[in-house]
Amino acid sequence: MTAAVELRDVAKEFPGGTRAVDGVSLSVEAGTVFGVVGHSGAGKSTLLRLVNGLEEPTSGSVLLDGQDISALGERRLRPLRREIGMIFQQFNLFRSRTVLGNVLYPLRLAGTDRAAARARAEETLEFVGLAGHGGRYPEQLSGGQRQRVGIARALATRPKVLLCDEATSALDPQTTGEVLALLGRVNRELGVTILLITHEMEVVRTLCDRVAVMEDGRVVESGEVYEVFARPRHATTAAFVRSERHSEPDAPLLERLRARHPGRLVTLPVADGNPALEGLSELLQLHGVDFTLVHGGVGEVRGRPLGSVTLELRGRPAAVEAVVAGLRVPGPVEAGAR
Ligand SMILES: Nc1ncnc2c1ncn2[C@@H]1O[C@H](COP(=O)(O)OP(=O)(O)OP(=O)(O)O)[C@@H](O)[C@H]1O
Ligand SMILES: [Mg+2]
Repeated sequence: MTAAVELRDVAKEFPGGTRAVDGVSLSVEAGTVFGVVGHSGAGKSTLLRLVNGLEEPTSGSVLLDGQDISALGERRLRPLRREIGMIFQQFNLFRSRTVLGNVLYPLRLAGTDRAAARARAEETLEFVGLAGHGGRYPEQLSGGQRQRVGIARALATRPKVLLCDEATSALDPQTTGEVLALLGRVNRELGVTILLITHEMEVVRTLCDRVAVMEDGRVVESGEVYEVFARPRHATTAAFVRSERHSEPDAPLLERLRARHPGRLVTLPVADGNPALEGLSELLQLHGVDFTLVHGGVGEVRGRPLGSVTLELRGRPAAVEAVVAGLRVPGPVEAGAR
């Protein structure tokens, strides 16, 4: 199967010597949502600009639908660019044009005739939930509505791929949720492949099939979202997914927990395919051990459970020991033991 977007050992060095992208290979299957996360300066925006041909790689190749875009001249690149839509953190709408005018713009640029362009623009505005708003100006809209216009404009020419550069970073949590839901529909209902970059794991958790983590221009880890969240291998990834995993309490929190809870503190990871809390109540009953839930939580990533819980166990020392030994979890940790 040909990937919708593929990068093969791509590097981008700017004059002055900054290697913004440094040997990145990744493959985005058609019809999927691929997320790239990384801290500021990791090279995420540069990566997207390489994909839509706004930057030329210093080395390596960028393929769209199997076609190497660096081998194409500007003339042959132009129709290919129409296959790619893009949305931005600051929306980048034309302030002097109406909502309809913004969505019409790429269609007119592509040479679509007036009537067909208008029909397409209105249909697209309806898809993003802005039917009837065509005559308004961007400044008369909320942030969430502006991003919907941005999405409608990006989709007007029916691209196969949508690139999103921090598309929800300027929005409040509720509006973020609405825009993410819309992007999910864009992927599922229109079959658009999405490549997005973000520093918000919430975006990855709710929307992406696969994720790559970038640091200093390189991909340090990538994989299926749940696997990466449940078992991060790189320290940067672990830091990104920490809050989503309700991970074991850090040292200061542990100290506060210890002050409140004199019993044995045990943190249990909860993930798909590990029995976690299964059998715990029987075990506690069998040994006459009591417990209090003192920290943690279990959430959902891609429809699968993920989290951790920290329990205080109270009872005779030998009984508590027997419970800890009997927990059928890969490495029940005495909180703070690692
Ligand atoms: N046109 C340019 N000329 C020179 N250096 C650049 C240029 N564009 C980006 N850089 C540098 O390349 C590195 C990566 O920048 P990039 O914008 O891709 O990062 P980013 O991951 O998108 O960061 P942010 O999260 O802050 O948007 C940075 O060190 C940046 O200063
Ligand atoms: Mg950026």
